[in-house]
Amino acid sequence: PVDDRIADLLGRMTLEEKVGQMLQLDAREDLDDHILRMHAGSILHASPARVLRARDLTLQTRLQIPLLVGEDCIHGHAFWEGGTVFPTQLGMAATWDAALIERVARATAAEVSATGIHWTFSPVLCIARDLRWGRIDETFGEDPYLIGELASAMVRGYQGGGLDDPDAILATAKHFAGYSETQGGRDASEADISRRKLRSWFLPPFERVAREGCRTFMLGYQTTDGVPITVNDWLLNDVLRGEWGYTGTLITDWDNVGRMVWEQKVQPDYAHAAAAAVKAGNDMVMTTPGFFRGALLAIERGLMNEGDLDRAVSRILKLKFEFGLFENPRLPDAERIARVIGSPGHTDLNLETARRSLVLLRNDGILPFDTAVPRRVAVVGPLADDAQTQLGDWAGSSGQVDWLPEGQPRELITTVLDGLRARVPATWEVEFARGADILTLEQDPEGEVFPDGQPRPQIVVPAEPDPALIAEAVAVAEAADYVVAVVGDRVELVGEGRSTATLELLGGQQALLEALAATGTPLIVVLLASKPLVLPPAVTDAAALVWAANPGMHGGRAIAELLLGEIEPSGRLPISFARHVGQQPTYYNQVRGQHGTRYADLTQSPAHAFGEGLSYTTIEYSRLRLADGDVGETDVVRARVTLRNTGSRPAREVVQAYVRDCVTSVSWADKELKAFVAVEIEPGAEVTVELAVPVAECTIVDAAGNRIVEPGEFELLVGASSRDEALLVARFTVSAAEARLPAE
Ligand code: IFM
Repeated sequence: PVDDRIADLLGRMTLEEKVGQMLQLDAREDLDDHILRMHAGSILHASPARVLRARDLTLQTRLQIPLLVGEDCIHGHAFWEGGTVFPTQLGMAATWDAALIERVARATAAEVSATGIHWTFSPVLCIARDLRWGRIDETFGEDPYLIGELASAMVRGYQGGGLDDPDAILATAKHFAGYSETQGGRDASEADISRRKLRSWFLPPFERVAREGCRTFMLGYQTTDGVPITVNDWLLNDVLRGEWGYTGTLITDWDNVGRMVWEQKVQPDYAHAAAAAVKAGNDMVMTTPGFFRGALLAIERGLMNEGDLDRAVSRILKLKFEFGLFENPRLPDAERIARVIGSPGHTDLNLETARRSLVLLRNDGILPFDTAVPRRVAVVGPLADDAQTQLGDWAGSSGQVDWLPEGQPRELITTVLDGLRARVPATWEVEFARGADILTLEQDPEGEVFPDGQPRPQIVVPAEPDPALIAEAVAVAEAADYVVAVVGDRVELVGEGRSTATLELLGGQQALLEALAATGTPLIVVLLASKPLVLPPAVTDAAALVWAANPGMHGGRAIAELLLGEIEPSGRLPISFARHVGQQPTYYNQVRGQHGTRYADLTQSPAHAFGEGLSYTTIEYSRLRLADGDVGETDVVRARVTLRNTGSRPAREVVQAYVRDCVTSVSWADKELKAFVAVEIEPGAEVTVELAVPVAECTIVDAAGNRIVEPGEFELLVGASSRDEALLVARFTVSAAEARLPAE
């Protein structure tokens, strides 16, 4: 019946209504024009008042086709006052916990759907490789397997039991594909990436969620091999819709169609750009009002035909019918808003996620603090009390979306300073000093505007070290037993179009840390950094280091609990930390090269490797054994390993299993994550952990682009991180014939 309803409606739509149905327009602009004249099928960035206004306007249209309302609710409902703001996606990834992330997405869907939003542009499945890229914080890190596991859970959480579930929202797998691989980390530049490389690392997470029913896919901004991804026929038609059988909806990124004309200059005008985008298989065109006239002209001039349009419009209507929007437009619901937004259950889940996202990277034994004796603690640093940075990008007032211009109410956010003040024992004293600034924003001195007339963004000017601020912090540190320095990057250094050439701690932060280290008071560094930064000696030599990403509303409380030993550290790095910006990239699963692929002046090893993270105890791994070391291509490699907690505190250990294909017909990663299991271990206890890796997952992509298992010798490496020295090794042989997946 859905097909009949689509055919019936299509038969009644004018050409203008069909073109309009493909448009997703900015709800902050002229809604009357968008809906009444251009017949927009969708809006984004709509405040609740605009959602209701848009609904009224829809009811004035001839066919009253309901609107789809989209928003970037990518780590909670950050644009709703009092909405739950979870850690950023990279912070969530540090939990290595798919079940937890599914619950986060469920909670987000409940809040988002209550406010009349149908569709979140999340999760991000881009692989984070060049740390200079401004959107590292939006990813699940650098490993395709971890990304696939966590993204799959997030999509399940958003989409719930099915689209008839009132709490379900549509998920978006983005940015398809290879967007993160841009040159120099500069956002939206060219991605120099071959089809084989795409198939090897970048496509697998997308393939997984496509096959599992993620309802929408969003394209990236980059060009690949000279072709803007928006019109990449091979990727969209041959791979996504052909090989993977994807029947969902495809949306462009922001003005991708217009940018082909005014920015990338690969299309002479909007008619050609519109025809190319529709023919490549795009269904919804985000924020290109010029598409309306362009598509009509394209049909008039024979650049595309009405059948091309019908294919796209049918897929949008299908989504709307299957989502039940014609029967129930899913408007904001005051009762549900009151019940679910920032509910106690969501608050608890948020705190749990923040606790689990913290990664302890260094500890000389100072942590957890001994709370039995009275202490004075100096809380220092520009981010110790910075609520907005703690929330991260895409959170209210970050500048990306401004319909919550003031951001979340300050009293809902617990900064590190708030958290420590609230949780230290009554016998303790807490003193605060900011110590340094990070940056100021200035107008671009050249005063240029983008070709589309938008003013150029303000530019970031690192602050100079301020001797008076540093002197104040040093005085506070000298009088203290511990210094907790909260440093990192501010939200202005993060996001779309905000890649950074450097990875250093900017502004007065390094000078501050050096001065603090010189006091001799034990220094504990809390790194509130959207992505891995390069750590100066004052940090690498500090008594302890915790990376907290952007840990959300309750991050400061979680950090205080961790320092005070109320919780155990359990986060693991989903991404490597570099020693130097010039080392880029430092991801662990690089292909085997010659000369050790290293620099003359620097090791290629990272400062902290993928998978790393300490506990407050020590875990010993022993006796890695395989059920069978001789396996066929359809078998599962089954292993057991013994873990013993040799310290005095409990731990949640993430046991990681990597596979090394000893000889490959093409150059391939030296090892790749293939499984992980988390276990809780009490002090003194010993547990046996079972791991299973299907041989069918031990693949490479051969020179012809086929994903295959190559029989031969393999190693299973099991341990606490991707570092070789942290891994036990067992060898196995795959002895059956090759199993080939369909060729290109
Ligand atoms: O969803 C985002 C995308 O990730 C980047 N460009 C803008 C879109 C809508 O806000």
